[in-house]
Amino acid sequence: MTRAFVTGWPVKHSRSPLIHNHWLVQHGIDGSYEKQPCDPDDFTSFISGFQNEGFVGGNVTLPYKEQTFALADEVDKVAKAVGAANTVWHENGKLHATNTDVYGFLANLDQQVPGWGEPERQRRGALILGAGGASRAIIYGLLERGFENITIANRTVSKAQNLARAFGHKCVAAGISALSDECLEAALIVNTTSIGMGDGQRPVDPSLFAKDAIVNDIVYAPLVTPLLATAKEAGMLTIDGLGMLLHQAVPGFERWFGVRPEVTDELRGLVLTDLGESA
Ligand code: ATR
Repeated sequence: MTRAFVTGWPVKHSRSPLIHNHWLVQHGIDGSYEKQPCDPDDFTSFISGFQNEGFVGGNVTLPYKEQTFALADEVDKVAKAVGAANTVWHENGKLHATNTDVYGFLANLDQQVPGWGEPERQRRGALILGAGGASRAIIYGLLERGFENITIANRTVSKAQNLARAFGHKCVAAGISALSDECLEAALIVNTTSIGMGDGQRPVDPSLFAKDAIVNDIVYAPLVTPLLATAKEAGMLTIDGLGMLLHQAVPGFERWFGVRPEVTDELRGLVLTDLGESA
């Protein structure tokens, strides 16, 4: 039996077991995907020795993504760019790590909005709200897809400035409460802040966005955040945060269990039910 894990502290709210166990059943694989809570004192020994406990690999969530990146023997280009890893496995006695958030973000848009990254939209650019780890992954993904200008807007402007500096001349920093008309013309707006996660708040007023903007919130609880609700009312195309969560699980499953799974409406419905949302 092939076993994989998700570890974090805490890990009890993780939806990853639901996703991976659905795929295991769907593909008739003799495997398991298990929650492994790990307190900070035990993390280094767990991540370095999980193969001795019978695991082929797993996912790492908060607060261990940066630590995993630092502890891995081999990290790929994506993990290096993001400075954090969420997927691990062993190969030839070495601990390998990658970051699948970039893939999850891009694959979700590819599936839901074909043509979202076309040249005209690349030129108009993106507005990314927030300057934490998720923001970093998304900026990297957009630059890889050819976006030509990206505004990083954050409450703490210095953090946005650090990110803009790290990613180069196509990125500029801004304060989230003082956005210029130019950056509000962005073709894609992505919220990576925690605003909207049950607080009834919006990070910015979407009525300021271009009417043909695609508005993506990576928050998925609630599924329709106040930002998305207002953007939708204004006729904009809105993308909720659940798709990124589902797609980011694909590369890990394929790595550990040898089958590339699909993100289907059935899987989405299953997770929505678990979140207490209607499909
Ligand atoms: P993640 O790794 O998920 O991106 P994070 O690194 O904790 O999470 O980043 C959270 C982001 O949400 C930050 O951009 C944070 O802004 P600050 O850098 O100014 O802290 C933003 N954020 C959280 N709560 C916020 C609030 N009430 N108002 C504005 N921004 C907020």
